Amino acid sequence: MQFSTKIFAQADLNNPKQLKASLGTLLAHSTDCLVLAYSKADLDALTAGKSKSGFLIELDRLLGGSVTHANLVGDLDAKPASTCVIRAEKSWTASGVKAKRVLLVSLGDIAPASARSLNSYSKIARAALKQLSGGSIQSALWFIPSFALGHRAEFMAEEVRLTIQYAGDQAYRFGVRQPAMKFKAKDKADTFTHLIFAGNDTCAKELKAAVPEGSAMVEGMNLAKDLGNLPPNICTPTYLGKAAQGLSKKTGLKVEVLGRKQIEALGMGSFLSVAKGSDTPPQFIVMRHQGGKAGEAPIVLVGKGITFDTGGISLKPGEAMDEMKYDMCGAASVIGTMYAAALMKLKKNVIGVIPTCENMPSGNATRPGDIVKSMSGQTIEILNTDAEGRLILCDALTYVERFKPKAVIDVATLTGACIIALGHVHSGVFSDDEGLVNALTKAGHASLDTVWRLPLDAAYHEQLKSNFADVANIGGRPAGSVTAACFLSRFTEKYKWAHLDIAGTAWKSGAAKGSTGRPVPLLVNYLLEQK
Ligand code: BES
Ligand code: MN
Ligand code: ZN
Repeated sequence: MQFSTKIFAQADLNNPKQLKASLGTLLAHSTDCLVLAYSKADLDALTAGKSKSGFLIELDRLLGGSVTHANLVGDLDAKPASTCVIRAEKSWTASGVKAKRVLLVSLGDIAPASARSLNSYSKIARAALKQLSGGSIQSALWFIPSFALGHRAEFMAEEVRLTIQYAGDQAYRFGVRQPAMKFKAKDKADTFTHLIFAGNDTCAKELKAAVPEGSAMVEGMNLAKDLGNLPPNICTPTYLGKAAQGLSKKTGLKVEVLGRKQIEALGMGSFLSVAKGSDTPPQFIVMRHQGGKAGEAPIVLVGKGITFDTGGISLKPGEAMDEMKYDMCGAASVIGTMYAAALMKLKKNVIGVIPTCENMPSGNATRPGDIVKSMSGQTIEILNTDAEGRLILCDALTYVERFKPKAVIDVATLTGACIIALGHVHSGVFSDDEGLVNALTKAGHASLDTVWRLPLDAAYHEQLKSNFADVANIGGRPAGSVTAACFLSRFTEKYKWAHLDIAGTAWKSGAAKGSTGRPVPLLVNYLLEQK
């Protein structure tokens, strides 16, 4: 999927004097489909037939009566997000129209522009994008100011990024992007491949910034989805390491991959205890994007990279265990976000850190009751080998102290309990830092990749007490996601930190099984918003 911009300097549909000429210019551009939005008022004016000018009335004239015709047969509706494709007729060519189709999208009854939420825009954009997919439209020209109707330019950047995010999501096909994994013969690429955002000179600057940002985000999401969807016999820790290194060849990312010996030398006894039962070696991946000043404190992202979680000796039940290939989605989202940051040449220092291994049962696997020493020096009594995510993350969280980070955000498919608490709507966010929670919440809203805060108080630490070590790795069934976050918090005292539990949001189960690419949009938006 390709995204680009096209500026029509004079095109202004809000100025009645320029309306006709503006529409003329847009329609004279050769495209498979011109996408325009209208309001209920525009449609009412057309239906009433009293006014001489107005958006749909002027458009109708230029299109030789096609809009009126569509309205008469009932194809135009004032309901928000209703759509109508009008196909070219002979008369169009005579009036210099080069667009092969015009897709009209309803904005509904427009209240004051400020009252419009990104949420309502998203429904409208999604409905329009659906019309563009799967048919004979390859390329479309999306006139963004017609959707914005007078609201602020900063909104526009969010809307453009969101449209790109959705278009990318819609076009994603696992088997097409990974031909070696094309196990389904009917997987075909979407026919719709090029979305051009048209604007005028009042929004040219915003468009030219937002389009590359959005495309980079989609690239990051696609990569995160691919890594998540790959089968666990292919997507091993070694594969993840290679994938990260592959990006350093493509971009300016600096990538370092540490193997077992180096991980041992660092004293990551907790991480290594999880890797013990597997024949495939653990890897510790460090990715750096140096887009800011040399001495500037970095934002550090840490991703859980369990390439398959059997539960270990505390073996999981068999049902849907295949989905534990997605237990590296935290890692995938960090790799995807680092890729996006590099592609958009983000002017900030960002470091991605990924502890990755498999959690397998074997004669050499860690037992419930084993005590291990973490890199921080704290000893851990492993009461359940299925609570392995926190065991690999805690050592990574100690490791990142060396970067003197501005903030650390870890991303993990950490607890089934988070799905019970929040379902598949919000990711869980845990942090003692109000500023960080607010920034992540805001970034989530901007990309509709949302988070909901869960507590992290001292009282929950009680549940992690061990009779034999500094801390136990489980806190019982009550508040399972909170005690998991509390466990991690014991290793994050030296910096500002937030934990994202993406167990419910990283992939979909059932008929639409597949990686969602979340929380790449959230993380990319967060990075973009950091001053
Ligand atoms: N990877 C799982 C969490 C998970 C389970 C995510 C199901 C998505 C769907 C994690 O390693 C795990 O097994 N957690 C245990 C913790 C428990 C043993 C304290 C859980 O949630 O059951
Ligand atoms: Mn587990
Ligand atoms: Zn796990």
